[in-house]
Amino acid sequence: SNSSFGIHDLSFATTEYVLSHEALAAYNGTEIGKYHIGIGQRSMSVPAADEDIVTLGATAAAPIIARHGSDRIRTVVFATESSIDQAKSAGVYVHSLLGLSSACRVVELKQACYGATAALQFAIGLVRRDPDQQVLVIASDVSRYELDSPGEATQGAAAVAMLVAADPALVRIENPSGLFTADVMDFWRPNYLTTALVDGQESVQAYLQAVASSWKDYGEQGGRALEEFAAFCYHQPFTKMAYKAHHHLLHHTGHETDKAAIEKAIGQTVAYNATIGNSYTASVYLALAALLDQADDLTDQPIGFLSYGSGSVAEFFAGTVAPGYREHLRTEANLAAIARREPVDHARYRELHERSFPSDGGEHLTPRQTTGPFRLAGLSGHKRIYQTR
Ligand code: CAA
Repeated sequence: SNSSFGIHDLSFATTEYVLSHEALAAYNGTEIGKYHIGIGQRSMSVPAADEDIVTLGATAAAPIIARHGSDRIRTVVFATESSIDQAKSAGVYVHSLLGLSSACRVVELKQACYGATAALQFAIGLVRRDPDQQVLVIASDVSRYELDSPGEATQGAAAVAMLVAADPALVRIENPSGLFTADVMDFWRPNYLTTALVDGQESVQAYLQAVASSWKDYGEQGGRALEEFAAFCYHQPFTKMAYKAHHHLLHHTGHETDKAAIEKAIGQTVAYNATIGNSYTASVYLALAALLDQADDLTDQPIGFLSYGSGSVAEFFAGTVAPGYREHLRTEANLAAIARREPVDHARYRELHERSFPSDGGEHLTPRQTTGPFRLAGLSGHKRIYQTR
């Protein structure tokens, strides 16, 4: 058929607070060049005590519901690796906060940072089956490493919400996909820990192997040639990783690895992630948001996507940009979400880092800190209590 399926709308939210890498570097004695150039990060989003994956996810999705209504949304898929409950989907809280119809299926998906791409692909399967339906995909994560660990500089937090539909206004997702799964322990978080464990150097190597392997499968499945792509949106645990990944892909496939070509492919995808930090599942779609917001006209251009989730699963796929897409962008709101964050000093950041996970099951009222539309009011009787402003 002539039908296309993909991303009809995209909106993101990030946190109340932001910590600059200058502040982190001044505290731990790191040369700032390591952060600004070596890993390519300027600052990291820091959640307030009353923000979490639910409040961020709801904040990201609310403008989509405001624009399109929710009559056609019969499925919500919530992708995260910073889950707040082992049984109940975070998506059910968001469904409630947004006032969606009870005639809806809601589920949470997990495979580290790859989860949102699984959600997108499953959503496309659903709207192919019934093109009158739409699926709300939410990718929401808070990235936390131990204080004073090498991973600390790559923390961040954000949520991306996408409306997946037939005849999409933004990006038409193509077949085929290139797939790769390998059982590796590069990054993981056991149920009893609140911060991730990581073998930093191994995780970078595992990511690069996944890039080459998913690209190889993409080719074997009849995918496009590398030269056809206008840009590449990579998962960005830190923005330098996208440059490393693309360099590896070019080298691995026998292409020239000149700086200008890599900059052209990646340069417009990093602006949001460089200031937000790692948002795990949301990261690759923040790369897309930055590209669409900043690039000259991309109409009908193919974009490459490389989604990587440690542990590990990777997928390479392509999307072409829909004619008229610019009228549907949220560039101003995106810039405002970044600009509204209040800078915190290093001491305040450490306090927030240590305080944000009450784990005793007792009664907690969370201080009112966020100025966003939704907040976590507290915990009572082992239940999370959310509020709309
Ligand atoms: N000026 C410029 N560059 C400098 C510098 C300076 N003054 N000082 C150091 N650098 C460069 C280094 O040369 C190095 O560059 P290359 O990688 O190009 O060689 C870079 O800065 C980083 O230096 P190190 O490797 O020494 O840094 P580190 O030991 O602190 O570790 C890290 C870096 C492994 C990324 C660490 O931050 C980490 O563990 N992060 C979390 C894990 C992660 O993000 N892994 C990514 C792949 S896994 C994934 O993608 C899933 C996910 O989301 C987690």
